[in-house]
Amino acid sequence: MGGWTLAPAPAAYTARVAAIINQWAVITIVLSGIALSIGVVLIRRGNREAHMRAMIVASALATLFLVLYLTRLGLGYEKKYVGPDGWRGAYFALLISHILLAAANLPLALGALWNAWKGLKSAGNLGNIAAPPARTYFDRHRAWVRWTVPVWLYVAVTGWIIYLVLGRYGEVVKG
Ligand code: HEM
Repeated sequence: MGGWTLAPAPAAYTARVAAIINQWAVITIVLSGIALSIGVVLIRRGNREAHMRAMIVASALATLFLVLYLTRLGLGYEKKYVGPDGWRGAYFALLISHILLAAANLPLALGALWNAWKGLKSAGNLGNIAAPPARTYFDRHRAWVRWTVPVWLYVAVTGWIIYLVLGRYGEVVKG
Protein backbone atom coordinates (compact mmCIF):
# COMPACT_ATOMS: atom_id res chain seq x y z
CA MET A 1 0.00 0.00 0.00
CA GLY A 2 1.02 3.64 -0.05
CA GLY A 3 4.14 3.57 -2.25
CA TRP A 4 2.31 2.34 -5.34
CA THR A 5 -0.10 5.25 -5.46
CA LEU A 6 2.49 7.40 -7.27
CA ALA A 7 2.46 5.14 -10.35
CA PRO A 8 -0.61 5.37 -12.60
CA ALA A 9 -2.87 2.35 -12.43
CA PRO A 10 -2.36 0.09 -15.49
CA ALA A 11 -5.95 0.60 -16.69
CA ALA A 12 -5.64 4.41 -16.57
CA TYR A 13 -2.30 4.17 -18.36
CA THR A 14 -3.79 2.04 -21.14
CA ALA A 15 -6.62 4.56 -21.53
CA ARG A 16 -4.07 7.38 -21.84
CA VAL A 17 -2.07 5.51 -24.51
CA ALA A 18 -5.29 4.59 -26.34
CA ALA A 19 -6.43 8.23 -26.30
CA ILE A 20 -3.12 9.31 -27.89
CA ILE A 21 -3.40 6.53 -30.51
CA ASN A 22 -6.93 7.75 -31.20
CA GLN A 23 -5.69 11.31 -31.76
CA TRP A 24 -3.09 10.07 -34.23
CA ALA A 25 -5.69 7.95 -35.99
CA VAL A 26 -7.81 11.06 -36.57
CA ILE A 27 -4.79 13.06 -37.75
CA THR A 28 -3.87 10.35 -40.30
CA ILE A 29 -7.42 10.03 -41.67
CA VAL A 30 -7.75 13.82 -42.07
CA LEU A 31 -4.33 14.03 -43.76
CA SER A 32 -5.30 11.17 -46.09
CA GLY A 33 -8.42 13.15 -47.09
CA ILE A 34 -6.25 16.20 -47.82
CA ALA A 35 -3.77 14.13 -49.90
CA LEU A 36 -6.75 12.60 -51.76
CA SER A 37 -8.16 16.06 -52.59
CA ILE A 38 -4.74 17.22 -53.79
CA GLY A 39 -4.52 14.08 -55.96
CA VAL A 40 -7.89 14.87 -57.55
CA VAL A 41 -6.84 18.47 -58.31
CA LEU A 42 -3.56 17.23 -59.80
CA ILE A 43 -5.24 14.79 -62.24
CA ARG A 44 -7.74 17.51 -63.25
CA ARG A 45 -4.71 19.60 -64.17
CA GLY A 46 -3.33 16.65 -66.14
CA ASN A 47 -0.35 15.96 -63.87
CA ARG A 48 -0.44 12.14 -63.79
CA GLU A 49 2.91 11.61 -62.10
CA ALA A 50 2.08 13.95 -59.19
CA HIS A 51 -1.44 12.46 -59.05
CA MET A 52 0.04 9.00 -58.60
CA ARG A 53 2.35 10.20 -55.80
CA ALA A 54 -0.44 12.05 -53.96
CA MET A 55 -2.66 8.96 -54.13
CA ILE A 56 0.10 6.66 -52.86
CA VAL A 57 0.58 9.06 -49.93
CA ALA A 58 -3.20 9.13 -49.33
CA SER A 59 -3.31 5.31 -49.37
CA ALA A 60 -0.31 4.99 -47.02
CA LEU A 61 -1.96 7.40 -44.55
CA ALA A 62 -5.24 5.47 -44.75
CA THR A 63 -3.35 2.22 -44.08
CA LEU A 64 -1.66 3.82 -41.07
CA PHE A 65 -5.08 4.94 -39.89
CA LEU A 66 -6.35 1.37 -40.11
CA VAL A 67 -3.40 0.05 -38.07
CA LEU A 68 -3.89 2.73 -35.37
CA TYR A 69 -7.64 2.17 -35.30
CA LEU A 70 -7.27 -1.61 -34.91
CA THR A 71 -4.63 -1.10 -32.19
CA ARG A 72 -7.04 1.14 -30.33
CA LEU A 73 -9.81 -1.44 -30.66
CA GLY A 74 -7.40 -4.10 -29.41
CA LEU A 75 -6.70 -1.98 -26.32
CA GLY A 76 -10.44 -1.92 -25.72
CA TYR A 77 -10.75 1.86 -25.69
CA GLU A 78 -14.22 3.14 -26.45
CA LYS A 79 -16.25 6.29 -25.85
CA LYS A 80 -20.01 6.66 -25.68
CA TYR A 81 -22.12 9.65 -26.59
CA VAL A 82 -23.44 11.52 -23.55
CA GLY A 83 -24.48 14.73 -25.34
CA PRO A 84 -27.90 16.35 -25.73
CA ASP A 85 -30.70 13.82 -26.35
CA GLY A 86 -32.05 15.88 -29.25
CA TRP A 87 -28.85 15.20 -31.19
CA ARG A 88 -28.57 11.50 -30.34
CA GLY A 89 -30.38 10.30 -33.50
CA ALA A 90 -28.34 12.53 -35.79
CA TYR A 91 -25.12 11.44 -34.07
CA PHE A 92 -25.90 7.74 -34.52
CA ALA A 93 -26.93 8.22 -38.16
CA LEU A 94 -23.56 9.88 -38.72
CA LEU A 95 -21.69 7.18 -36.79
CA ILE A 96 -23.38 4.25 -38.57
CA SER A 97 -22.95 5.77 -42.05
CA HIS A 98 -19.32 6.49 -41.18
CA ILE A 99 -18.63 2.88 -40.07
CA LEU A 100 -20.39 1.30 -43.07
CA LEU A 101 -18.68 3.55 -45.60
CA ALA A 102 -15.28 3.17 -43.89
CA ALA A 103 -15.63 -0.60 -44.36
CA ALA A 104 -16.65 -0.07 -48.01
CA ASN A 105 -13.71 2.26 -48.61
CA LEU A 106 -11.12 -0.50 -48.31
CA PRO A 107 -12.30 -2.60 -51.30
CA LEU A 108 -13.06 0.61 -53.24
CA ALA A 109 -9.52 1.93 -52.73
CA LEU A 110 -8.03 -1.47 -53.58
CA GLY A 111 -10.08 -1.63 -56.80
CA ALA A 112 -8.91 1.86 -57.81
CA LEU A 113 -5.27 1.11 -56.98
CA TRP A 114 -5.27 -2.32 -58.62
CA ASN A 115 -6.54 -0.98 -61.95
CA ALA A 116 -4.16 2.00 -61.86
CA TRP A 117 -1.27 -0.38 -61.15
CA LYS A 118 -2.23 -2.82 -63.93
CA GLY A 119 -2.70 0.16 -66.27
CA LEU A 120 0.71 1.57 -65.43
CA LYS A 121 2.33 -1.85 -65.94
CA SER A 122 0.79 -2.33 -69.36
CA ALA A 123 1.38 1.31 -70.41
CA GLY A 124 5.03 1.20 -69.34
CA ASN A 125 4.90 4.87 -68.40
CA LEU A 126 2.23 7.45 -67.60
CA GLY A 127 2.66 9.19 -70.96
CA ASN A 128 1.30 6.11 -72.71
CA ILE A 129 -2.09 5.53 -71.04
CA ALA A 130 -4.02 5.57 -74.34
CA ALA A 131 -2.36 2.31 -75.52
CA PRO A 132 -5.13 -0.35 -75.84
CA PRO A 133 -4.53 -2.65 -72.84
CA ALA A 134 -3.66 0.27 -70.56
CA ARG A 135 -6.76 2.22 -71.70
CA THR A 136 -9.04 -0.56 -70.48
CA TYR A 137 -7.45 -0.51 -67.03
CA PHE A 138 -7.58 3.28 -66.74
CA ASP A 139 -11.24 3.27 -67.83
CA ARG A 140 -11.87 0.84 -64.98
CA HIS A 141 -9.77 3.05 -62.70
CA ARG A 142 -12.05 5.99 -63.57
CA ALA A 143 -15.14 3.87 -62.90
CA TRP A 144 -13.84 2.79 -59.47
CA VAL A 145 -12.72 6.27 -58.38
CA ARG A 146 -16.14 7.75 -59.14
CA TRP A 147 -17.23 5.90 -55.95
CA THR A 148 -13.92 5.74 -54.10
CA VAL A 149 -13.29 9.50 -53.94
CA PRO A 150 -16.65 10.62 -52.48
CA VAL A 151 -16.80 7.69 -50.05
CA TRP A 152 -13.21 8.30 -48.88
CA LEU A 153 -13.87 12.03 -48.37
CA TYR A 154 -17.10 11.32 -46.49
CA VAL A 155 -15.28 8.90 -44.18
CA ALA A 156 -12.43 11.36 -43.53
CA VAL A 157 -14.71 14.32 -42.81
CA THR A 158 -17.21 12.40 -40.66
CA GLY A 159 -14.36 10.68 -38.75
CA TRP A 160 -13.10 14.08 -37.79
CA ILE A 161 -16.59 15.32 -36.84
CA ILE A 162 -17.18 12.24 -34.64
CA TYR A 163 -13.85 12.83 -32.92
CA LEU A 164 -14.81 16.45 -32.20
CA VAL A 165 -18.28 15.47 -30.94
CA LEU A 166 -16.84 12.80 -28.62
CA GLY A 167 -14.18 15.23 -27.42
CA ARG A 168 -16.99 17.48 -26.20
CA TYR A 169 -19.77 14.98 -25.43
CA GLY A 170 -17.97 11.64 -25.05
CA GLU A 171 -17.35 9.52 -21.98
CA VAL A 172 -14.81 6.69 -21.84
CA VAL A 173 -16.69 3.45 -21.24
CA LYS A 174 -13.83 0.96 -21.56
CA GLY A 175 -10.05 0.99 -21.42
C1 HEM B 1 -6.81 5.02 -54.51
C2 HEM B 1 -6.01 5.85 -55.14
C3 HEM B 1 -6.44 6.69 -56.32
C4 HEM B 1 -7.56 7.46 -56.48
C5 HEM B 1 -8.66 7.67 -55.46
C6 HEM B 1 -7.50 8.06 -57.79
C7 HEM B 1 -8.43 8.95 -58.31
C8 HEM B 1 -8.47 9.38 -59.62
C9 HEM B 1 -9.43 10.29 -60.18
C10 HEM B 1 -10.55 10.99 -59.40
C11 HEM B 1 -9.19 10.40 -61.51
C12 HEM B 1 -9.99 11.24 -62.53
C13 HEM B 1 -11.04 10.34 -63.17
C14 HEM B 1 -11.85 11.05 -64.23
O1 HEM B 1 -11.35 11.97 -64.86
O2 HEM B 1 -13.00 10.64 -64.42
C15 HEM B 1 -8.04 9.57 -61.80
C16 HEM B 1 -7.47 9.43 -63.03
C17 HEM B 1 -6.25 8.84 -63.26
N1 HEM B 1 -5.47 8.16 -62.34
FE1 HEM B 1 -5.92 7.90 -60.39
N2 HEM B 1 -6.37 7.63 -58.42
C18 HEM B 1 -5.69 6.80 -57.55
C19 HEM B 1 -4.48 6.19 -57.77
C20 HEM B 1 -3.78 6.25 -58.96
C21 HEM B 1 -2.47 5.68 -59.17
C22 HEM B 1 -1.66 4.92 -58.10
C23 HEM B 1 -2.13 5.95 -60.46
C24 HEM B 1 -0.89 5.59 -61.22
C25 HEM B 1 -0.40 4.39 -61.27
C26 HEM B 1 -3.23 6.65 -61.08
C27 HEM B 1 -3.29 7.06 -62.38
C28 HEM B 1 -4.33 7.75 -62.97
C29 HEM B 1 -4.38 8.16 -64.36
C30 HEM B 1 -3.31 7.89 -65.40
C31 HEM B 1 -5.58 8.83 -64.55
C32 HEM B 1 -6.10 9.46 -65.84
C33 HEM B 1 -6.95 8.44 -66.54
C34 HEM B 1 -7.54 9.02 -67.81
O3 HEM B 1 -7.18 10.14 -68.20
O4 HEM B 1 -8.37 8.34 -68.38
N3 HEM B 1 -4.21 6.84 -60.12
N4 HEM B 1 -7.63 8.95 -60.64
